[in-house]
Amino acid sequence: MKRIKAIYPGSFDPPTNGHLDLIERGSKIFDELIVAILRNPEKDPLFSVADRRKMLEAMTAGFDNVSVDTFEGLTVDYALRVEATTILRGIRAISDYEYELQMALMNRKLQPGLETVFMMPAEKYSYLSSRLVREIAQLGGSIACLVPELVEQKLREKMDVAHKFENGEQLAGQPHSERKSKSRKKKS
Ligand code: PNS
Repeated sequence: MKRIKAIYPGSFDPPTNGHLDLIERGSKIFDELIVAILRNPEKDPLFSVADRRKMLEAMTAGFDNVSVDTFEGLTVDYALRVEATTILRGIRAISDYEYELQMALMNRKLQPGLETVFMMPAEKYSYLSSRLVREIAQLGGSIACLVPELVEQKLREKMDVAHKFENGEQLAGQPHSERKSKSRKKKS
């Protein structure tokens, strides 16, 4: 019988409960699912690729047929490299559709043998995105129920470091003149 191997590519910065919901759904319909984190040198992510990989590995440890990997370059090239035949993407709302359709059709143009499969996460995650999670965490709001506990913890640690930096605690050891200019800059 034909086995279906799929990749679920994305930025996952950070991974959310919506991603996890989709991974769970994907793991039920594909024989093998690779969560593929894009290594994008042009982006300035909140979490390093290594951190995102660790978080996703912990989140997916309970699924026998799910693994986590990273890739650079075209998604279709990566899919061919790992011998996947399917790209899984989530559609939360109609607003996602236009971008996802464009991407799916472009991927098809690049590699006609690959199929994109769209799945919908649970409705309660339809308004959830990594960008909003980052923004809420950065502004001190609660992200409980939006991300798994380990991601919440990692975000809290990140925010604590940023907060300490803002308060000048990370500036110890630097010349006094630099400390002054940095802390002045932070106030504006
Ligand atoms: O989680 P995201 O940021 O919505 O994921 C977007 C992603 C990584 C799937 C998309 O940007 C992508 O496939 N990038 C790899 C480069 C590529 O293949 N570009 C052409 C897409 S048609």
